[in-house]
Amino acid sequence: MRNITVIGTGYVGLVTGVGFADLGNQVCCLDIDESKIKMLQAGKSPIYEPGLEEMLHRNMQGHRISFTTDYEAALESAEFVFIAVGTPEGVDGEADLKYVGQAAKSIAQTMKHPLIVVNKSTVPVGTGDWVADIISTNQLQPIDFAVVSNPEFLREGSAIIDFTSPDRVVLGSLHAEAANKVAELYLSLRAPIIITDLRTAEMIKYASNAFLATRISFINEIANICEQLGADVKEVAAGMGKDKRIGHYFLDAGIGYGGSCFPKDVKALAHMAITHGTHPQLLKAVMDINHYQRTQVGQKLRDILGNKLKDKVIGLLGLAFKPNTDDMREAPAVEIARMLIREHATVKGYDPAAMVVAAKVLPDIQLAKEPYDLAEGCDALILLTEWNEFKHLDMARIKSLMRQPVFIDGRNLYQPDTMRNHGFTYRGIGRGY
Ligand code: UDX
Repeated sequence: MRNITVIGTGYVGLVTGVGFADLGNQVCCLDIDESKIKMLQAGKSPIYEPGLEEMLHRNMQGHRISFTTDYEAALESAEFVFIAVGTPEGVDGEADLKYVGQAAKSIAQTMKHPLIVVNKSTVPVGTGDWVADIISTNQLQPIDFAVVSNPEFLREGSAIIDFTSPDRVVLGSLHAEAANKVAELYLSLRAPIIITDLRTAEMIKYASNAFLATRISFINEIANICEQLGADVKEVAAGMGKDKRIGHYFLDAGIGYGGSCFPKDVKALAHMAITHGTHPQLLKAVMDINHYQRTQVGQKLRDILGNKLKDKVIGLLGLAFKPNTDDMREAPAVEIARMLIREHATVKGYDPAAMVVAAKVLPDIQLAKEPYDLAEGCDALILLTEWNEFKHLDMARIKSLMRQPVFIDGRNLYQPDTMRNHGFTYRGIGRGY
């Protein structure tokens, strides 16, 4: 049992805190947002993540996890302090480090005994050194500490599994002893542990996310070519994926990647490259293709409904950036809804989890109660999130409710032939027709 403090109770921080408590450690989670801490103290998770609330309750009952807004209380018996605060996108696409800086300063001003400070937030290469500088210059008296980078690879929607069964644990530090101590926290997970220097660890995170985003843009480009040449990108991806060197992950063509990580991290990596004098040509293409995929949805609609979308009613089936989350950060639905509204279309939307978020992010769309309510009176439906519950919709009923049976499948969830047999004018992404 070790004493661990986690700063930040967003996706990364909360999953890390609850996960470490579940491994038998004593965990204190700190956030400067009082409302979040109050919710957590009442046993409610401020984020929607399958399995998280159950795990939270289990560890609250076992008295292994507590929540506070007070640095003194949080650091009192801590051996490890994990920084897991947000690194939002800055004005030029760079990562905004103000929350990391504030956390480092607060640690420095509060610490009364040696600490291992572990950074989990996705931060530009070199931030670990910067955090170490902030701590040494803000300490009230010189106390030993070491900074370790431990990038997080969890995915929203499967964050608990990703914590308990990681593909790898990456640790970077100039202090081998500190890195080994952090490694011990993960030993029971039996995952490969990579120990390297600070900057390399920070880069592993960016390179991993940028590579996955590149795979998505690659298959999207192939999809656009398939569409013109009469090939089916789903089968192309399946055929490619059988090659062990390629693998089948992250080869689903669609409306491009979204979420809190890929868009921000690819931009931040490109920004780092430019500010250090290199030309990130591939990363730029990855971002361009991603944006292009969103615009293609509008083009497909115009091809079928005509250039004027004014007075057309368009239903968005799925609003979250991916299934099993209510997160709409950089969700294709946001960009696509705004584009349709600019063209004076009436936009409706439905999502199994993101309705509360959607009401705030997209106040100008009409929210439907369920998929059939959404279909009512629509000139076209666009599937934007591949929720399981959309796989088995009664398509005959959907069609009978619509004003025009136009279906744009932004995630290639349906069989083109089946949809056409139902009488839809159907367009997927990269499925030659
Ligand atoms: C991602 C990384 O996977 C994770 O390791 C990192 O810590 C945070 O960023 P997440 O943003 O939760 O996780 O979502 P992920 O499941 O990776 O999907 C990202 C986006 O790519 C989604 O918008 C998804 O719809 C899209 N995607 C994914 C595709 O368009 N095609 C694919 O084949 C896979």
